This record gives sequence, C-alpha cells and structure tokens, in this order.
Amino acid sequence: MAVIKYLCEILFLTLILTACQNDKHRMATQTKGLNSNKYFQEDHRPQFHFSPPQMWMNDPNGMVYFDGEYHLFYQFYPDSTVWGPMHWGHAVSENLVHWQHLPIGLYPDSLGYIFSGSAVVDWNNTSGFGKNGEPPLIAVFTQHDPLGEKAGEIDFQYQSIAYSNDKGRTWIKFEGNPVIPNPGIKDFRDPKVIWDENSRQWIMVFAAGDHLKFYGSADLIKWTKLSEFGKEWGSHGGVWECPDLFPITVEDTEEKKWALLLSINPGGPNGGSGTQYFIGEFDGSSFLLDEGFANDVSEENAVWLDWGRDNYAGVTWSDIPKEDGRRIFMGWMSNWDYAQVVPTANWRSAMTLPRELVLEKTSEGLRLFSRPMRELLALRENHGTVQTENPSGSLEIGCHPAQMELYLEFHGDLTVELLNTKGDIYQVGYDATANEFFSDRTRSGKLDFSSAFAVKNHTAARISKNELVSMHLFFDVASVELFADGGATAITDVFFPNEAFNNARLKYGGKIIKADCYELKGVW
Ligand code: FRU
Repeated sequence: MAVIKYLCEILFLTLILTACQNDKHRMATQTKGLNSNKYFQEDHRPQFHFSPPQMWMNDPNGMVYFDGEYHLFYQFYPDSTVWGPMHWGHAVSENLVHWQHLPIGLYPDSLGYIFSGSAVVDWNNTSGFGKNGEPPLIAVFTQHDPLGEKAGEIDFQYQSIAYSNDKGRTWIKFEGNPVIPNPGIKDFRDPKVIWDENSRQWIMVFAAGDHLKFYGSADLIKWTKLSEFGKEWGSHGGVWECPDLFPITVEDTEEKKWALLLSINPGGPNGGSGTQYFIGEFDGSSFLLDEGFANDVSEENAVWLDWGRDNYAGVTWSDIPKEDGRRIFMGWMSNWDYAQVVPTANWRSAMTLPRELVLEKTSEGLRLFSRPMRELLALRENHGTVQTENPSGSLEIGCHPAQMELYLEFHGDLTVELLNTKGDIYQVGYDATANEFFSDRTRSGKLDFSSAFAVKNHTAARISKNELVSMHLFFDVASVELFADGGATAITDVFFPNEAFNNARLKYGGKIIKADCYELKGVW
C-alpha cells in the first residue's frame, strides 16, 4: 500500500512539475521576441536603431519624458507588415539608445483608428485626470473613422485624448471624445500639444491639408481655435502632416525663436516624403515668420530638415527636464513611396537615431542643425584607424561597416564606399565642384521591390562656408545617417544589400585631415 501511495505521490509531483515547466515554457515563448537577441537578427534588421518587435510601424508618436523614462509610441499595425488599422505601439528607454518594448498603448475603438499625435505631462492637473497627487500623462491623437472614409464623407478625422495614471502603461480614453470634432475638412490630423508658458495655456497645432491650425486650451479638454498658418508659405507638393512647434534659443545667444516642423508627402527634397521647417515667433496665438526666413519659404520654396529620403513625420520630445534643455528629435526612417514593400521579412521600418536640434546663425540665415545625441557615444566599441597618408587616393577603413560610426574632416572631394562580396556598392560623400553632399544607393543591392526606391543619387547643397568639410556618419546594417558640418546638412537613407556590407573604403581628391571610425554595439 505504502509503495503504491509513494508511486502515486511521485507521479503527482512529476505531473505538477511538467505542468509548471510547460507554463514556464509558455511564458518564455510569449515574451520571446520582446528584447530577446534572436528576434533582432533577421536580414536588414538595424542593431542600434529602434524598430518594432514585429509587423508594421510608421510615425513616432506620443514622445514624452516622465519619471526617468523616454516614452516612444508609434503608429503600429500588429496584424501585418503593411499599413492597416492603426494602434499606438509602445516602448520606453532611460537613455534614448536602449529600448524596452511594452504592450500596445492605444487600440482602435468605435471612433476609429488611432492616428499620429503627441503626449504631455499635465503637471498642474489642469485636466483633472490626475490621481493621488500625481500628474497624469495625456495623449492627444487623431482618430480616423475608416467607415466614414469609405462612405465618401469628408469629416472622418478628429482629435481625441486619453490619460494614464501609471507611467503610460495603461490608458483610459476620455469619454467625451473627440475633443475637436471635424468641421468638414478631409485631412485634419496629427496634433502636437505643448504648454506655452507666456500665454499660460496648452497649444495644439495640427495639419489640415495645405495649412496648420492652432488651438488653445486651459484643460486639454475644451479647445478654442486661435489661428492658421502656411497656405502661402513653404512647399505644397503634397499633403501637410505631423507638425511640431517649440521655442528654441539661437545657439550661443539669448535670442529666443520658435521653430515649426512640418512633414509633407509627396514633395520631399529628393522625392516622396520629407520634412520642412519654419523659423519665427509665436505670440500665444499665431505663428509669425521671421522676415529673413520668409524669403526662403515664399513661392513654394522650402527649407528642409533632412535631404535624404528616409526621415519622415519626425517630431520632438515633450517635457525634457530644464536642466537637460535639449530639443530631442526622432523621425520615421522610411518614405511612403516604398515603405510598404521594402524587403524585410517580419517587420517593417525603423526610427532615425535620436538627434538634438540646434538653431544656428548661418550665412543663409537661421537654420536648424541636427546632431547625433551624445548618449550614442556609449555604443562605441572598437576604435579603428584610417591611414590618412596614401597618395593613391583610396584608403581602407579599418572598421566593419555594418555597424559603424565614421568621423571625417577633409578638403576637396571625398566618397565613402561600402562594399560586399556580391558586388553591391553604396556611396556617400561630398562633391566639391557641385558644392553638394550626396548619397547614392542606385547600386546598393535589392532595388527592384519599387521603381521609386533608387531613381537617382540624393543630393544636398552644402550651406557651411568653412574651408574644412566634416562628415559624421552612422551606418547600421541597412541605413546611413550623415551629419555634415556639425549638423548643418543631414542626409538619412536606407538600403538593402544582398549581403551585409563588410568592406569600406575612402576615395578622395583633396586632403584628409582627420578620419576616425568606431564599430558600434547593438542595443537589443
Ligand atoms: C504620416 C501619417 C499621418 C497619419 C499617420 C497614419 O505618415 O500619414 O498623417 O496620422 O501617418 O498612420
């Protein structure tokens, strides 16, 4: 009897243990893909840029800093690798470099999909959604009603809000949504909200087809229209989307200005999607262009933030602490011309590196410079050298180019070439005769997924007048970001080689003064 009882006990224990192990296994499988190494090793998967664990991603949304965390939400369709019913995917980071993927932040509801928007910390609980003396996070976003759109109506986009009392982990949608109903305008979207210290109110700016609308509010719930901007300024080659408005001090002065970012698709500087900007004043109600800047953006002229084809819908983080004071930007590293067909298997697209935007006086007037964030320094691993004395005009770069940072100072022409054993070649550089930077992906590997992908090389006129040219480059498996002349000119492009680039060299016509390369660690 005792033996049978003993055997039964053993059997029971084994069953329990197996069940537990199965459970553990199930949990491991469920979390697999979220921050597990294996998940980020597919062909063309960026290693130090943010990308979603799987499926479709477009614009960055709801970027807000709170309680030690940078939040990044993003346009996300969890059921496919092409655009569809939009959710807000979610991730957090303590340093803008290492990201933790979190569960979806906002789901579509009876009012529609969750399109692009922003988030703020409501420090004084103006909305009344705070709890236990803690300020709530408020997300402000467009809802897009696909049924209304299908029925041929024009009022299917409107602005809604949601709040979170648990550091953005869960969100409660406001029951009185939408907070700004549609007045009969087809494109009516992408609200960015800021607290304006001068007029002591919340300001919302969003895009309405060919112009921007500004609204004001005391509590983030009741909004009053203040003004409009843009019908007669800048480029109108496509629909206006994803604006951002923020104060910024001219570098090395006390002079305060306001910057207005604005994405446009199509009509970008080298085709498809692009981001232009305006510099001026904001008086608590209207945006007024600076006189000098007005000349640069009249008659369909634009001033572009980035000349590559893969930096779209970017905006800046809200609530960066005063002690930090940086204006931190991130964009979607793709282009609507081909975003949905790029040759990646189970996810689509990545974000740009986080960048600091700085307002500088240049010979062409005030310009926004883009600079890679200093946090990226932590990724440097092996420091390679580039031998700078070689009369042949061609130098090997002593770093593996798949994950590489390269800093160059030189005179005259210069081309950086990435190569692989399949014969693919990508080139980025400076053409002294034309006085322009260029990025050429026309032989960079897979091209035939879209006839719009590699039409020609992408060029950007140089604005710096310094004799010495500088190029700061970041390569991450399938992308390049060029910050030239201290960020005066930026080019962001993606590419898809048939095999990861494994060789890099410099070709130059003038003289190289400085050349440093670093291999960069992955963050996943
Ligand atoms: C920009 C955009 C936004 C819109 C979102 C939809 O890429 O078209 O205007 O809110 O994407 O996903």
